[in-house]
Amino acid sequence: MAPKSLHFLSFLLLLTTVYAQLRVDYYRHSCPNVEAIVRSAVKKKFQQTFVTAPSTLRLFFHDCFVRGCDASVMLSSKNHTSEKDSADDLSLAGDGFDTVIRAKAAVDGVPQCRNKVSCADILAMATRDVVALAGGPSYGVELGRRDGRISTRRSVRHHLPRPDFKLDQLSSMFASHGLTQADLIALSGAHTIGFSHCNRISKRIYHFKTRNRIDPTLNLAYAKRLRQLCPQRVDPRIAIEMDPASPQTFDNMYYKNLQQGKGLFTSDQSLFTDKRSRKFVNLFASNNTAFERAFVAAITKLGRVGVRTGKQGEIRHDCSMVN
Ligand code: HEM
Ligand SMILES: *[C@@H]1O[C@H](CO)[C@@H](O)[C@H](O)[C@H]1NC(C)=O
Ligand SMILES: *[C@@H]1O[C@H](CO)[C@@H](O)[C@H](O)[C@H]1NC(C)=O
Repeated sequence: MAPKSLHFLSFLLLLTTVYAQLRVDYYRHSCPNVEAIVRSAVKKKFQQTFVTAPSTLRLFFHDCFVRGCDASVMLSSKNHTSEKDSADDLSLAGDGFDTVIRAKAAVDGVPQCRNKVSCADILAMATRDVVALAGGPSYGVELGRRDGRISTRRSVRHHLPRPDFKLDQLSSMFASHGLTQADLIALSGAHTIGFSHCNRISKRIYHFKTRNRIDPTLNLAYAKRLRQLCPQRVDPRIAIEMDPASPQTFDNMYYKNLQQGKGLFTSDQSLFTDKRSRKFVNLFASNNTAFERAFVAAITKLGRVGVRTGKQGEIRHDCSMVN
């Protein structure tokens, strides 16, 4: 190719990257009060139930890791073949979806804003709001995402981390979305709030590799407590707090738990067990400001994963179905 056309190509590439960029003030003209509208709807729901916080935060993560942050996780289909029908997403709590639906209704209740703000952006704003409401840091959310039109159960497979993953598997999955090991460790701090179902940990507390053995990386007293909370023939509906020390506060307790062998999943505990990532765990455990800064940087990067912008996708009218 001639150098001139190469120049032209890189110019085009530059244009598309600039074009694809999200902006904090994206709705400044089309819906100037969008942040306040969303915040008030989210706050109202949060005051009704704390579950609003963890369920919304996890919903955002699952959305971004599958087809990018395009609210595809919210689409439903009559034949139950959407992302949310996948084995990994069935445990997403309904309150997360409800939070976005309510905020969307509040936004669309303002004539100027009607059908101007994407479900993907509302989910991103609601996520920022629940983190702050639970005592975590607040930050400016980049906006301008468009909603996707495709959501399939199949696309979820192998795109979400499993609780039995160790550092290398976690790192490579996060790296595939441009997220570093520091981002992985900071984002895992989200497990400072919320719940897990007992079946996720039964292997670790009842039959680690062989029958009746406890995962040796688990704190023994904690493992015994977990056995009480999650009796052997587990009722799949039982859910336990992931951070028993401060279950409703978004803080760095998660990392202090890891230092004591109180990480609920293998994926949590391996961040401390593995020497390569331990220094970050120790840093975040000892310095909440460092954790908060790293979390904000990481969730901002997470919010850019695979986004559709400009004329791509659409602004969905109803978050559960394509227009
Ligand atoms: C690093 C790999 C990760 C793994 C293996 C993982 C796995 C899980 C699992 C198995 C649950 C319990 C689900 C249930 O039984 O109902 C859970 C809950 C949760 N996860 Fe993760 N997760 C990871 C990273 C993240 C990230 C990056 C975020 C957000 C930034 C996040 C946010 C949450 C929240 C808030 C909950 C609680 C949900 C609720 O109470 O409704 N997780 N996670
Ligand atoms: C499910 O329905 C969608 C349309 O809503 C269709 O595109 C898809 O092929 C259907 N899938 C199956 C497995 O029937
Ligand atoms: C904690 O981390 C912040 C942000 O990285 C840093 O500015 C501060 O100096 C650290 N504090 C201590 C006591 O190390």
